[in-house]
Amino acid sequence: MPLIDVQAERCSPDIVLPSYEDVSAPTDAVGVRPLLPVVGANLRVPLVTGQETTYANLDYAASAPCLEEVAAHLTEVLPYYASVHRGAGYASQVSTSLYENARAQVAAFVGARADDVVVFTRNTTDALNLLAHCVPTDGAGERAGDVLFLDIEHHANLLPWQRGRHRYVVAGTTQRATLVALRAELAARPAALLAITGASNVTGEVLPLTEIVALAHEAGARVVLDAAQLAPHRRIDLAATGVDYVAFSGHKVYAPLGSGVLVGRRDWLDEAPAYLPGGGAVREVTLTGTTWASAPQRHEGGTPNVLGAAALARACLVLADLPEGALEEHEEALRNRLASRLDALAGVRLHQIWRDSPSAIGVVAFTVEGYEPGFVAAYLSAEHGIGVRDGKFCAHPLLSRLGAQAGTLRASVGVGTTLSDVDRLADAVERLLSVGPRWEYARVEGRWSPVGDPRTAPAWAGASLGSAGGASPCESGTIR
Ligand SMILES: Cc1ncc(COP(=O)(O)O)c(C=O)c1O
Repeated sequence: MPLIDVQAERCSPDIVLPSYEDVSAPTDAVGVRPLLPVVGANLRVPLVTGQETTYANLDYAASAPCLEEVAAHLTEVLPYYASVHRGAGYASQVSTSLYENARAQVAAFVGARADDVVVFTRNTTDALNLLAHCVPTDGAGERAGDVLFLDIEHHANLLPWQRGRHRYVVAGTTQRATLVALRAELAARPAALLAITGASNVTGEVLPLTEIVALAHEAGARVVLDAAQLAPHRRIDLAATGVDYVAFSGHKVYAPLGSGVLVGRRDWLDEAPAYLPGGGAVREVTLTGTTWASAPQRHEGGTPNVLGAAALARACLVLADLPEGALEEHEEALRNRLASRLDALAGVRLHQIWRDSPSAIGVVAFTVEGYEPGFVAAYLSAEHGIGVRDGKFCAHPLLSRLGAQAGTLRASVGVGTTLSDVDRLADAVERLLSVGPRWEYARVEGRWSPVGDPRTAPAWAGASLGSAGGASPCESGTIR
């Protein structure tokens, strides 16, 4: 890893970019065209050289772009935007109906059982914290049973459980060994809940859900699925798999606007104290006592985010409407191309958790020999107009396991990605390894940035690039 703070000589703006927009290939080949139209697909972005290029968004796993159909739906419903559950006016009644209809649509999207509850939250983190709050407690207010989780989880599926009785299981080097370890731990001591990710946010590897649910249920534990990464890529079916609870975020299923959901069994949600005490969560209030509403309203105190719920539900409808297998086929073509092209480059290392993972969603973690991940990410953005994520992805224990304490790069794809986006990334990494960067970079507030970056953000963004704060404290390699 380069330890100096400035890498490469700055040079004149003479970078010649291949014209990927002109790539001619059979238009019906899988991955050549986006699977669904997304807003910003043709976004033009500046390069440090003064040129412009079409943005290659390979950061879907962080936040996916908005589906065009979601944006159109928002335009359609905005004139009716009004308070939910709080007004007799026509617009207010339409908004209330829209909100409750969104709840039913999300329930259908995850194959909810008839008595399951859909609670709208801010995001997956909020949904998992809500469930952590609802795990039954004993007389002393302590969790009545442990929550069990693996050491590969995103912090959102780890920190809420650490606040009460919990145990973790160290995943094996194969999925088989991991299942054996989980079964042994569940047999050794009962647990109330097993919290498990559907797909790793770092490597994209998918876990065998049905088997995991079976072994948890055998031991009397419920299962919550962190589907933040799985939901945008695979169908989820609570009734068919037996998963007790599922949590996911709107912004990862192509529906920005700050919504998420927790869907699952009613009893824990009805018995727990209100998550967010306030208006809407109650039936009756006096100055000495309160009768709380049942779930979901019990946990949705305050004015609901109706546009967020509507966006999320519309995205669910659009994804569910795709022909069977189309999403998997599109993303597999992109992931295979990405992984095989990167793997072919001497100096690139791909990271994975298990030796025997049968499948993965469109997420690939990699490192480039001789360059820090943050440097490569800055180079890809500044010289090639490519957006990827770098860092530790809110999964510190997993990054340590992978031997990548300083982080990795992560490229991720989705319905708007094409093979040419993936090729641009592989070509740019290849160029870095063969020619090196063309610009000078320095570390500023923990992040690598081009020295004298001439690129500017649109005026409405309110700040010039890189000046709006350094790395998130949990993403930079340094502990502050
Ligand atoms: C697997 C996983 N779980 C949970 C989260 C948290 O999602 P959010 O930030 O939307 O709450 C993420 C976000 O990246 C994730 O990838």
